[in-house]
Amino acid sequence: MKGVVFTEFLAFVSESWDEDMADDIVEASSLASGGAYTSVGTYDHREIICLLEALSVRVTLSKEALMQQFGFYLAGRFSVFFPQFFTRCGTLFAFLASIDDYIHVEVKKLYPDAELPSFDVLDSDEAQMSMRYRSSRKMEALAEGLIYGAAHHFGRTINVVAKDGGDGSVIFVINETHS
Ligand code: HEM
Repeated sequence: MKGVVFTEFLAFVSESWDEDMADDIVEASSLASGGAYTSVGTYDHREIICLLEALSVRVTLSKEALMQQFGFYLAGRFSVFFPQFFTRCGTLFAFLASIDDYIHVEVKKLYPDAELPSFDVLDSDEAQMSMRYRSSRKMEALAEGLIYGAAHHFGRTINVVAKDGGDGSVIFVINETHS
């Protein structure tokens, strides 16, 4: 997985806890990379699972909850790095539909060795959208956090339900809620 995800993960840990926590989990994880990530490098995606495990023990939150929190944070960072992906879409649902058709296509041009998930729209109307996430890396908790983070960017309040889609896929049912 591209280094930008790892550098942002360690930034997320430093901001949410502190730099010592980031150093500590790197040290505890005996990573092949040594944790010296650069944003354009490519690293084994399982390193993030090791880092999450080490963080989970220290902060007594589940790996899934932490991955989701990181996804929320990452969406905010992507909106700073790649504002054009957000501004070209008028609505949250149009943005989510553009991940597979446009955003990750552009990401692949930028980083040819990126391993991206598929994220297909199954159904969509004004209030609800269903999408199927499929990836051998099984990062659905990251995907869910990214969806919530994107909603936050568009100023929408949503509720996401994740269901087993069979064949190892996950179906997200995203509802806009009005407060
Ligand atoms: C501007 C928006 C976005 C950009 C620039 C972007 C870019 C990226 C990049 C660079 C990776 C790493 C892939 C690799 O290194 O192999 C990635 C992975 C991923 N992206 Fe996106 N992404 C964006 C939005 C989203 C959103 C909103 C979702 C929500 C579903 C999403 C779902 C994922 C997931 C789950 C992964 C982890 C890899 C996997 O599941 O197989 N992305 N994305």
